Order: sequence, then C-alpha cells, then structure tokens
Amino acid sequence: MIVSGSASQSFAAALADTTGRDLAAVEFERFPDGELKASVPDFDAHEAVVVASTVSADAHVECLQLQDAAREAGAGEVTTVLPYMGYARQDETFGAGEPVSARAVARAVSTGTDRVLTVNPHERSVCDFFDVPAVAVDAAGRLAEPLPADLADPLFLSPDEGAIDLAAAVREAYGRGATDHFAKDRDYDTGKVAVEPGDAAVEGRDVVLVDDIVATGSTMSESIACLHDRGGDRVFVTCVHPLLAASARTRLARAGVAAVHGTDTVERPVSSVSAAPAVAEHL
Ligand code: R5P
Repeated sequence: MIVSGSASQSFAAALADTTGRDLAAVEFERFPDGELKASVPDFDAHEAVVVASTVSADAHVECLQLQDAAREAGAGEVTTVLPYMGYARQDETFGAGEPVSARAVARAVSTGTDRVLTVNPHERSVCDFFDVPAVAVDAAGRLAEPLPADLADPLFLSPDEGAIDLAAAVREAYGRGATDHFAKDRDYDTGKVAVEPGDAAVEGRDVVLVDDIVATGSTMSESIACLHDRGGDRVFVTCVHPLLAASARTRLARAGVAAVHGTDTVERPVSSVSAAPAVAEHL
C-alpha cells in the first residue's frame, strides 16, 4: 500500500503505477491553530510505503504522522520514501551550538519506520544519520529522457566537481557526448555564486547543465552566462530536485536557458520526468 504525503502525490501515483501497489485514500486536515492531521484508512497489506518529500516544516510533520497512521491502519512494516530529503544539505556544523539538522530530521523519521529510501541526497553520507537502514537511490540518469534527440556535440556539465557523477550518469543515459565540470565559489554572506570554466571547448555545442538541486537558481544562471560568453549554443538545465525557490525560474529564463527539466521528487511545472521507477527498483 502506497501512502502519499500531500506534496508527493504525483510521485506516489507514479510509484503505484510502476509497482502495481494500491494507493491509500489519505485525508489531510488543518486545524484552526494551524496544526495538521494526515489520516490513513485501514488496509489489509502488510507493508506500507510512505512517500513524502520533506519540502517544508509541515511536510516533515506530515511524514511523521503518516508513518504513525500507517501502523495504526494495520501495517506491520513501514518503508519511508523521501523523494527529496529536506535539510539534507545541513549535514555538518560550522560553530559551537549549531545543529546537524540532517541528523536531527533523520533521527525523527527513524522512530516511525523500518527503512528509508531517499533520492540523490546532496551527500550520500546523510544516510548514516538514520537509525534504520537507509539507501540513496540514484535517479540522475532519468534526466536524459526529456532532452531533445538532436543535441549538437553535447557537453554534459556540472557546475562543480561534486556533481560530476550526475553529469556522467545523464551523459551515459543519453548515449553520446562528453562530460566536464566548472569550479564554483559561493559567498555565503551575499549568496553570490561565481563559476570558473572547465577545460572543454563549448563553442557551437549544446550544453546540458546537471546538478542535484536548483534552489535560488544562482548557480545555474551564472553557469549559463559563462557558457554563452564562451560561445556555447543552447544551454539546458537539468536537476534531480527542482526546488526553484523564490524567483529562480525567472532567473533561468532571463539567463536564456533553452529548457529546464527536473524530476518529480519536488513537484513543479518543470518536473518532466519521474524518479519513481528508480525507487521502485529498491522496493
Ligand atoms: C550545492 O552544492 C548544490 O549542489 C546546488 O548546486 C545548490 O544547492 C544550488 O543552489 P542555488 O540554485 O541556490 O545556486
């Protein structure tokens, strides 16, 4: 039985289709004081698969409620799928008194589940923060699907070295092209991002930028500007988690992006491909 959080309904439906499991008729309520209640009707299946991207504080609470409700509804075993794990980037401290937020949320989730699957966390090591077995599912290759078949001498490029494996996965799934990476520097006081070009020539080529997350769009818009300055042709932005906070989509459009494609780990208008089949392989 698939039990969906309110922010992950398309992902959960795709997972139900892929695996042939039923979707529970979850109900969501909000009380006048703002508190949430997510309820799961009784069901017969032994296993519940709770699917909840923790994209907000409310979504975190909902995930905990759904895990608890699934047991109340009759599940003997609970698997939690976090298509997008919120707070995963806060995985270390930089000073006394700071929380390791990724660890705090992982511990909370662990109290109500038997195992966790999460899609392309920023660092795979966040899986170690859970007190139950946790697996990082790689769905990056699926980002090749919505790309046009006629890319000219394509270059699959990550904005920093840390995301080069994602660029390589998309290139491999696409079937041809080269990979390279930029070097990125972010000023954490101003939020400004600067990128340094890599070795590959880009003139006249179509470039596919690949990253795990697009949040404010600073990284990608700087990368697009750099590529256009250097004579790149069309620039496509792909990411696993299209958070697209604030004016990110507008920033990408103003930078001249050819198209933006993300997966449904975060459900946005640009979520043109589902990561559910990659998760299904681990269920
Ligand atoms: C960080 O290293 C991540 O991989 C992304 O590059 C980052 O989260 C993107 O953030 P923004 O869109 O705000 O530049």
